[in-house]
Amino acid sequence: MNPPINVFDYEALAQAALPPVNWDFFYGGSDDEVTLRANRSAFERLRLRPRVLMDVNQCSINTSVLGLPVSMPVLLAPSAAHGLAHPDAELATARAAGAASTLMTLSTDSTRSLEEVKAVAQGPLWYQLYIYTMEEAQRLVQRAERAGYAAIVLTVDLPRYSRRERDLRNDMNSYQQAHYPDAFNGNAPHLVVDGSDNQHVYMGDAVTWDILPWLRSITALPIVLKGILTAEDASVAIKYGASAIIVSNHGGRQLDGVMPTIEALPEVVAAVAGRCEVYVDGGIRRGTDILKALALGACAVLIGRPVLWGLAVNGQEGVQHVLELLRKELTLALQLAGCASLADIQRSLVQVP
Ligand code: FNR
Repeated sequence: MNPPINVFDYEALAQAALPPVNWDFFYGGSDDEVTLRANRSAFERLRLRPRVLMDVNQCSINTSVLGLPVSMPVLLAPSAAHGLAHPDAELATARAAGAASTLMTLSTDSTRSLEEVKAVAQGPLWYQLYIYTMEEAQRLVQRAERAGYAAIVLTVDLPRYSRRERDLRNDMNSYQQAHYPDAFNGNAPHLVVDGSDNQHVYMGDAVTWDILPWLRSITALPIVLKGILTAEDASVAIKYGASAIIVSNHGGRQLDGVMPTIEALPEVVAAVAGRCEVYVDGGIRRGTDILKALALGACAVLIGRPVLWGLAVNGQEGVQHVLELLRKELTLALQLAGCASLADIQRSLVQVP
């Protein structure tokens, strides 16, 4: 294959490079993967309404998220087990994010510890939290704050682990885990279950909105809620003082059949009404996808699988290249749409379906 020139090329190369079990773990969604596919097709359905004869000679895509400057509105979503993609795991990813001057979110289920990742990161980091036990969650949040992470991203769409049928068929039920090595024998405790019993060490199903005042009481960091899809929950999130919301369906890996995120975004943006920052992830593969998300009110987007494809194909360099491809595509998309900066992106850039 010729050298990769877009994210889909990286996807194909990653599939060729990865053991099929790891590919399935990264690529797959839950149940019938309806939402996984819909995340993409919803972007493809949206049409753009460009303006012409604007001066787009100088086009800037710098921005900031929660006050942190980033070179583009493209952040790295948290994803588990980068060690299944490359031996350098999250260290390579963090170096790449730093080199691209953007922000990486480290998963609780990472291969390398939050301190190791912080030690090599040149850019800002957020720490994504799963609550396995309250005691361990408190320790992790405080470790992240001490290490210099800039926010806690609480993932709220995983009260239980969904059925990922590719993983069930592959008997893929554990991977190396930096943050729970002793307590859980190296296994991700919530990973791959067929509905119930095995989840006794993961208490996500007992976590409610009351967790937010508790989190607030143990950390001064901003709290970002990841996995909100409705106006109703966005309003509650605001009431509980969320600093930001990530509209996400976990990349089609949790409740199958939920709406694609780009369709959920407008109602969340409307409910939030400027009271906190809103980001979106799920199916973003092109600069034009990012442009559509920004036009519909997102302050930034996050990418999940594209990072893993870059990592699997060529470690740090691969991730960096994926980020640079998206940077170029977004800049060109803005110019072709008649925008010289992110501030020029109007809601009217996207056709109302
Ligand atoms: C994820 N995602 C995820 N989210 C999270 O909050 N904590 C996690 O540990 C993980 N782990 C994870 C592993 C893998 C292999 C994938 C693909 C995804 C979800 C992730 O943060 C994000 O919401 C989606 O990946 C976004 O969709 P795209 O960009 O992958 O289509």
